[in-house]
Amino acid sequence: MTVTDERFAKMKPFNAGRVPRIPTGRLPPGPHWPSLLQSIALVRFRHQFVPAMHRRYGDVFTVRIMPKGSALVLFTRPEHAKEIFAGDPEHFHAGKGNAILGPIMGEHSLLLQDSAEHRRARKLLMPAFNGAALRGYRDVVVDVAGSEVSRWQTGAAFRSLDRMNALTLEVIMRVVFGVTDEERLARLRPLVNQTVNVSPAVLLAWGYPFLQRFGPWKTTVDNQHRLDEVMYAEIAERRAAPDLAERADVLSRLLSVGGSDGEPPLADEELRDQLVTLLLAGHETTATALSWALYELGRDRAQLARAQRAADEGDDDYLEAVMKESMRLHPVIPMVVRHLMRPATIGGIDHPAGTNVGPSILIAHARAENHPDPDAFRPERFLHGSPPPNTWIPFGGGVRRCIGAGFSLMEGVTVLQEVLKRYDVALPAGFTDRPMVRNITSVPRRGARIVVHHR
Ligand code: HEM
Repeated sequence: MTVTDERFAKMKPFNAGRVPRIPTGRLPPGPHWPSLLQSIALVRFRHQFVPAMHRRYGDVFTVRIMPKGSALVLFTRPEHAKEIFAGDPEHFHAGKGNAILGPIMGEHSLLLQDSAEHRRARKLLMPAFNGAALRGYRDVVVDVAGSEVSRWQTGAAFRSLDRMNALTLEVIMRVVFGVTDEERLARLRPLVNQTVNVSPAVLLAWGYPFLQRFGPWKTTVDNQHRLDEVMYAEIAERRAAPDLAERADVLSRLLSVGGSDGEPPLADEELRDQLVTLLLAGHETTATALSWALYELGRDRAQLARAQRAADEGDDDYLEAVMKESMRLHPVIPMVVRHLMRPATIGGIDHPAGTNVGPSILIAHARAENHPDPDAFRPERFLHGSPPPNTWIPFGGGVRRCIGAGFSLMEGVTVLQEVLKRYDVALPAGFTDRPMVRNITSVPRRGARIVVHHR
């Protein structure tokens, strides 16, 4: 335990499991610290702060966040998550909370839109992520994963997170953009890398355009211009490609949809924004879940043997259960948030317009009544049916549920198969890891180091 863990753990009394009685016109209780401190605790120390607030204030609590001390009410029970996910999307907005990503993803990004605009974009993007489309992407993942994994050095510890990041980036460039030409990939790689690694500090200060002539802001703007040039060239070329209808990548699919039943097809600027969104949302998230999965398998020889058997026998269900359990035990994204455009009652509590509400993924995944023996890594829990509704929510829910959920599970299963067919996975002697906040995601602090040996 760190000092911060201990300080949060000591907070009393113990109210988890109870919903506080809320007087009419009041929000659920929460800390009275300045909103700057609460925001820092929520963002920087979420793995200690959120469980501590749950213990102290019960199953629903309010955190005050910057810049204006606005209320964020966090819910930890499945029935409350259900109410939020089922909320009318006209009144439960998700896009506003993601506004910070605007400078990079662009105004048309699925993540930033709400209401009718969101509905239209989602409808146009969905076919590129349905079951048939996912089957079409699998060969690309097999190729990329096979070539990555075959280069691993045996007997020497390495950060699996870094290797998984490189792998998922390569997959997303090929699957999303459909670029296979090595020369073009080499040009694209550093531009994409720099885009996905842009720091929140750069984004936070985006409101001051004069900064864009200096330091990291100038570098970001220059990089974005170069990436846009390549992307618009790729879009123009692909629009004219004679084999467009036969191509299986996301860009080609997006160019082929729309135009029917009065739905205008995606314009170039929209395509650009959605592609950058997929790139950013779909790369580090899956890499993180994969690296935790390798870490957990490396910790337990019996689990490893079971997963290797699944890989040998092509038992995708078991490997998918490994990915799901990895995402349960180590949620990549800690919560989802909706901004109330109108007053709404959730869990019997009235919330005024302007309140932010959201289920805590961290707590939902760690509650023993949702997942018995919650600290243990047990893929078997996902084998015989699904856990009760809204207790496993790594991808959020409702009309905003992650569009890449199926993609990420398919990618995870395929990569695990390529690793486990070849290697025994172990942890370096005495090695342990725990989560650390990186931008909005939580990643293994020490990179989930592993050692592999040929089987
Ligand atoms: C382990 C992997 C992943 C995790 C944990 C994850 C998690 C999430 C979460 C929590 C949300 C918000 C859902 C909500 O508000 O209810 C989301 C949305 C989204 N994700 Fe993922 N994601 C993953 C992989 C991917 C991949 C592979 C892609 C694309 C290739 C992707 C694209 C998106 C997009 C575009 C949205 C916005 C959906 C909308 O607003 O309609 N994600 N994801």
